[in-house]
Amino acid sequence: MIVAGGQFGDEGKGKIVAYLALHDKPKIVARAGVGPNAGHTVHFRGKKFGLRQIPCGFVYEGARMLIGPGVLVNPEVLLKEVAETGVGDRLGVDGHCAIIEPDHIAQDRTSSHLKEIIGTTGTGCGPANVARVNRVARLAESVQGLRQFITNVPQEVNDALGRGENVMLEGSQGFGLSLFHGTYPYVTSKDTGASAIASDVGVGPTKVDDVMLVFKAYVSRVGAGPFATEIPQEKAEELGIVEFGTVTGRRRRIGTFDFEFAKRAAMINGATQITITCLDRLFKGCAGAKKFEQLSDDAKEFVGRVERELGVPVTIVSVGQGIDDVIDMRSEKL
Ligand code: IMP
Ligand code: MG
Repeated sequence: MIVAGGQFGDEGKGKIVAYLALHDKPKIVARAGVGPNAGHTVHFRGKKFGLRQIPCGFVYEGARMLIGPGVLVNPEVLLKEVAETGVGDRLGVDGHCAIIEPDHIAQDRTSSHLKEIIGTTGTGCGPANVARVNRVARLAESVQGLRQFITNVPQEVNDALGRGENVMLEGSQGFGLSLFHGTYPYVTSKDTGASAIASDVGVGPTKVDDVMLVFKAYVSRVGAGPFATEIPQEKAEELGIVEFGTVTGRRRRIGTFDFEFAKRAAMINGATQITITCLDRLFKGCAGAKKFEQLSDDAKEFVGRVERELGVPVTIVSVGQGIDDVIDMRSEKL
């Protein structure tokens, strides 16, 4: 299964990956996506993790954690997260991951185009991908401090698939930030759709059985760029929705669910299932619900409309921060 983000990121993919890992018990959770520009939040065993490199599936101790060759690695960030999560003995980093150098970070933070116009996360991802395209980037296999983790991720993943084992691929960044399909030039430095996620870890399209596209019940966006359904800050505050970026700390712009955009995201990602997160933040009557029937009427109506307009079943909804604050309808709907 591929887990991908449907909007501008921060849909809560991290939490959903953690939930799916704990319940579906995959043998491998492999991180795809751009790199440490992502900030995936997971609340687990009373601790809040803001993960930028390690897959959020780390919460399931039976899974091997892999980082695919398409993903940029900042060794300092990665090693810090290894220490925080304690996954060192089950982590594999592909030898061909490109390395983010201090100079890439400096460029990302001083270029007026990247910093002021695009409003990047300043994590060096764009300049590092430029270095990769220019074929001058250093690869993980040459970094002394990563030696113990270096592996062949495509081989491991495809061997597992060949044995019929469950593998989960974790994307990063929302679909609206895709370099090809998003709101260019206000996008990240590569494609972020499900096909790119598969490619990042070396999985061919015929091997993918499920694509879980994660949407938030409303939309948020950090940084500049078109935002069709954006609402004024005061209106968002009235709705009780105020958010800050996990990596940047910047206040997020807020908007209502964009059905046209979501339809396109479902189409290009080939979504087979949809998760809707933060239902409790938009529809206050939903907090603590354990069953679909317990959701407020407006929330049920919203979920029904998403299914009708996108033509894809909503199989999971999230109604709180905790990993298990979800309603999982997969057994009824699939
Ligand atoms: P970059 O990926 O740092 O180059 O930033 C390019 C754009 O993508 C900026 O608008 C960022 O705010 C946005 N972006 C990148 N990663 C994330 C993410 O994980 N969540 C939300 N926005 C992101
Ligand atoms: Mg984030």
